[in-house]
Amino acid sequence: MNIEKIRNEFPFLDAEKTGKKVIYLDSAATSQKPLSVINAQADYYKYSNANPHRGSHYLSWKATEVYEKTREKIRNFINANRPEEIIYTRNATESLNLLAYSYASENLKEGDEILISILEHHANLVPWQRVAKEKGAVLKYVYLNEDFSLDYNQLRDKITNKTKIVAITASSNVTGEMTDVKKITKLAHEVGAISIVDACQLAAHKAIDVKDIDCDFLAFSGHKMYAPLGIGILFGKYSLLENLKPYNLGGDMIEYVYEQESTFAKPAQRFEAGTQDVGGVVGLSAAIDFINEIGIDNIYEHENELVRYAYDLIKDIDNIKIFFPEKRNTGSVLSFAFCDIHPHDIASILDMNGIAVRSGHHCAMPLHTYLGVSSTCRASFAIYNTKEEVEYFAKELKNVRKVMGL
Ligand SMILES: Cc1ncc(COP(=O)(O)O)c(C=O)c1O
Repeated sequence: MNIEKIRNEFPFLDAEKTGKKVIYLDSAATSQKPLSVINAQADYYKYSNANPHRGSHYLSWKATEVYEKTREKIRNFINANRPEEIIYTRNATESLNLLAYSYASENLKEGDEILISILEHHANLVPWQRVAKEKGAVLKYVYLNEDFSLDYNQLRDKITNKTKIVAITASSNVTGEMTDVKKITKLAHEVGAISIVDACQLAAHKAIDVKDIDCDFLAFSGHKMYAPLGIGILFGKYSLLENLKPYNLGGDMIEYVYEQESTFAKPAQRFEAGTQDVGGVVGLSAAIDFINEIGIDNIYEHENELVRYAYDLIKDIDNIKIFFPEKRNTGSVLSFAFCDIHPHDIASILDMNGIAVRSGHHCAMPLHTYLGVSSTCRASFAIYNTKEEVEYFAKELKNVRKVMGL
């Protein structure tokens, strides 16, 4: 794999154009976009822009074609059974809200239980809080082992006959752990619960096979996998989607509309009301080509090498605490804190040296409370990062202590 060649695909690395050399270690928030994605989206707006499904003219037909062909590409990317199981949304957040609103509010009753983990991003947490309150259901959490890894013994104990929904991240955006969603799904199914997988931090890093996982629903966002902002995916098993009520109502999701009532289109169209982000779909299509060309296994190997290297280089810095379950399968994020320096100070000092890391609670406040810190710093890696960048980051992180006079 030629990383230099891959880096040439990313305009953000052109310091003359950006005004500054940037070492971007914030891909878990959003990845940078390769030229192929940027150009594909621009070309769509230049030469193929129209509202899909609605017109019988040439450009509308072209927009419809790319919209539906991409659905098939995504089906293939995650190994779903049929393209109708792929729903376009704005992002993973919208996908998960759709489930909380449509599936959960239809199917839960008082006393039922929703099981999530303390690792969850707010997108896979806050919607469940609301639906649990509304339905009188109980929201339960699985916590972690001493080494910050998910406690599977606890998970097994907490799945009971009352459990109706198990919604767990496939990869934590804080600890980086890639969970065993296949095992979790099996445990959920044994008690008749459905399994929802938040694959937001997985889709750009590791192959997803929904048939193998056997999950009922799975959500992810395009912008974390080299695609534009504003396009997301919800996968659902067709047998469940068929019986799911739509979340958004309006144009393009109906079968017949009468004065007082309407009937709805079949999935996936039923869940895609209103004018969709076709430009985003085109970008997502190019992003999947980009990933496939490199090979997702190669991407995983490269990123895993970087994250492990970074861990080794920083783990002995004075007063550092790294929230990294090193014995588990991990993705490409590394979160850490110093007991004597605020994460925002760390991020600002690194930024002065051209290193972009994130500081804060990373939309995982309950996790931070559980870990006993209000915020952490997070370095996250992607295919365009190099070992030299990791070394520079580690050197400058050590330097932060000196800058702070420690
Ligand atoms: C694990 C996880 N789930 C869900 C989300 C929500 O993604 P989005 O903001 O694209 O909807 C994120 C975003 O950081 C995430 O890391």
